[in-house]
Amino acid sequence: MNSRTIPISVDPVQTVLDNGLKDLWYPVCPSGFVKDQPVSMKRMGRKLALWRDGAGQVHALEDHCPHRGAPLSQGVILGDRIACPYHGVEVRCDGMVTKVPGSPGCKLEGQHAAKAFHVKEAFGAIFIYNSDDYAKEPKPLVLPEELTSDAYSNFLCYAEWRSDYRYALDNVMDPMHGTFLHKQSHSMSEGDSKASFQVRETDNGFVFEKVGQRGINFDWTEWADTGCHWMRLEIPYPKTGGPGGNFAIVGCVTPINAELCAVFFWRCRKVSDWMRSTWRFLYRNRLEARHWAVLEQDRIMMEQMEPDANSRENLYQHDIGLVRLRRHLKHLAEEQVEASGS
Ligand code: FES
Ligand SMILES: [Fe+2]
Repeated sequence: MNSRTIPISVDPVQTVLDNGLKDLWYPVCPSGFVKDQPVSMKRMGRKLALWRDGAGQVHALEDHCPHRGAPLSQGVILGDRIACPYHGVEVRCDGMVTKVPGSPGCKLEGQHAAKAFHVKEAFGAIFIYNSDDYAKEPKPLVLPEELTSDAYSNFLCYAEWRSDYRYALDNVMDPMHGTFLHKQSHSMSEGDSKASFQVRETDNGFVFEKVGQRGINFDWTEWADTGCHWMRLEIPYPKTGGPGGNFAIVGCVTPINAELCAVFFWRCRKVSDWMRSTWRFLYRNRLEARHWAVLEQDRIMMEQMEPDANSRENLYQHDIGLVRLRRHLKHLAEEQVEASGS
């Protein structure tokens, strides 16, 4: 035996948590990332090939040809099929090999030999269902009214942060950082710099909120599981921020790998008719740059934290929200591992 061999025990629960829980929808990229050529991207610890068919519908397979593993994303789009560039094997979006042109009739034809994923496109993003079993019916994708209702208008803001995705989740579950990290921001300078927090249950998750202060600063965060894990918060706006009252943010975080995550923040305002155009104009011309500046403060914090920071913490009352979420996700991962019998 090689004396340098180091035994590694891989904890299956940890693996699920590292790559993202299964049987959930995850946004993987803005819609504009997939145009007329196939695209390769790593998400949830997998390499994916995404493409659009002639009708504009997006499909996703593992970026691994079932013949010998060449990248399907380098291939040629044939509607809902893709032809591998290496030997021309054609794979349909449900994972079935439809043609082996070099050896017609061979037994690979007709097999579901490629790994396929359900795809939905909504609210300016492409969502993938993170499942090991394509035949299993995916859960419906349900997102909050700030995205689904006509009463609101939104802009999707997408970024990739060089950090474990769990730090980005913790960041949103931690409203108190608004008062300190973002105190120079035009909308987060108000209110008490001390607070105590409480947890309130909801039908799909929970709200983590300040006791006795609401509508002044970043005072609460909601976490929910509706076939997709999302978070929601509101930031009050001064009058100069235009019509529509509070500014709402709906956020999702998708793991890419251990050191990289994709963050999606839909910035929403309750505006219709003329107010909608006023806000959209104001957002593009004035507010967007300010929001990016705030998000940069978050990004710098996340990226500068050491990878083991979350194993060397001294938490206090303001951290109940993120502790609760961590515990809940771990519990879900344990259930999934148990159900899969691994
Ligand atoms: S590796 Fe794809 S066709 Fe051979
Ligand atoms: Fe922040």
